[in-house]
Amino acid sequence: MPNRNTNTALSLFDDSLPQQQEFLADVLEGLAQPRKTLPCKYFYDERGSQLFEAICETPEYYITRTELGILTQNMEHIANLVGPGCDILEFGSGAGIKIRLLLDGLHDPRSYIPIDISREILESSARTLLEQFPQVQVIPIVGDYHKDIQLPAAFRAQSAHRKLVFFPGSTISNFTPEEAEAFLQRIRALLCEGDGLLIGVDCIKPTHILNAAYNDLAGFTAAFNLNLLQRVEDSFNTNLKTKHFFHHAYFNEAESRIEMHLVSKLDQLIEIEGRHFKFRKGETIHTENSYKYSLEGFGALAQRTGFEISAVWQDPEKLFSLQYLSAR
Ligand code: AVI
Repeated sequence: MPNRNTNTALSLFDDSLPQQQEFLADVLEGLAQPRKTLPCKYFYDERGSQLFEAICETPEYYITRTELGILTQNMEHIANLVGPGCDILEFGSGAGIKIRLLLDGLHDPRSYIPIDISREILESSARTLLEQFPQVQVIPIVGDYHKDIQLPAAFRAQSAHRKLVFFPGSTISNFTPEEAEAFLQRIRALLCEGDGLLIGVDCIKPTHILNAAYNDLAGFTAAFNLNLLQRVEDSFNTNLKTKHFFHHAYFNEAESRIEMHLVSKLDQLIEIEGRHFKFRKGETIHTENSYKYSLEGFGALAQRTGFEISAVWQDPEKLFSLQYLSAR
C-alpha cells in the first residue's frame, strides 16, 4: 500500500478569520435582537469541545453511541456503496473517532480532508490519523464550514475518484430547515453525479428521551451551554457573570426541535465592550436548536437538494439514522 503522507510534518491549512473580532460582532448582534440569541458554533472552543466529548459519553445522550453502532454494523454495505479509492471530506471533524472506523472499513480510501474550527483538536486528531493510516493522505483545514472554504484541488475538480462527504453526529440538526437545505445544496455543488454523502440524522422520538439527552444528570450539557457565556466573560471587557444564568433545554414539539437557552436569574444590565443589554429575570438567550427529523421529512429535503437516498440504516429502537445519499 503506498504511503501517501511522504512528508511526515503535518501541513495545516488555516482558512479562519480573526476569530475574536467576528465572535464579538456576532455576540453584539445576537444580544441586540428582541429575542436574544448567540450562535451555537461558538460552543466549540477547547473547553467546549472537551465538554461536548463528555456529553457524548453520558448515558442520556444516545446519539454518539447509537451512530457508532450503526456505522460498525453496516460497514460492509457502506464500503460497497462508496466503492474503492475515494476522497473523503468531513465537516466539523472534531476528535475524529468515527472517521477511524470509516478509514478502516472503506476499500483503500485515498485522502481525508477534515475541516474544523478548533485548531487544537484538528491538529491532534490529524496527527493520530497520519500515524494510524499512512496510506491515506490527510489534509486538515482550520475553518468555519458554515462559510465557503477553499478546498484542495482534488476535491474541487471533476475527478476520476469517488468523492464522499462525511457529516456524522446529526450536526445537520443544528441548522434551521432553510439553512439545512442551503447546506445540502452547497455539498451537492461539490460533488459529481454518483458521488456520495454519508450523513447522520437524528430522528423524532418520545419527548422524555429527548429532554433527558439535553439535560444529563452529570451536568455536562449545562456546563457546555454556560461555557458560551464564560467565553464572552473571559474574552471581552464586560460585567457579565456566567453564574447569573442557568441552562434550560426542552423539546419544542411544534417545531420538532430541542431548544437550548441560557436563562437570566435576575434583572440585570450587562455591558459588553461599551454596549448595554437589559435582561429581565427569566429572560433567555436562545443558544441552540437541534432539529429532529422523520425519515420522510429528511428524504424530501434530500430530494429537493439533488440527492437520492441509496440507503438508510437505523438502530433497532429507531432512535437515529445513518443515510447514504447519492448525488443525482
Ligand atoms: C453537535 N450537535 C449535533 C449536538 C446536538 O445534539 O444537537 C450538539 C449538542 N448540544 C447539546 N448537546 C449536544
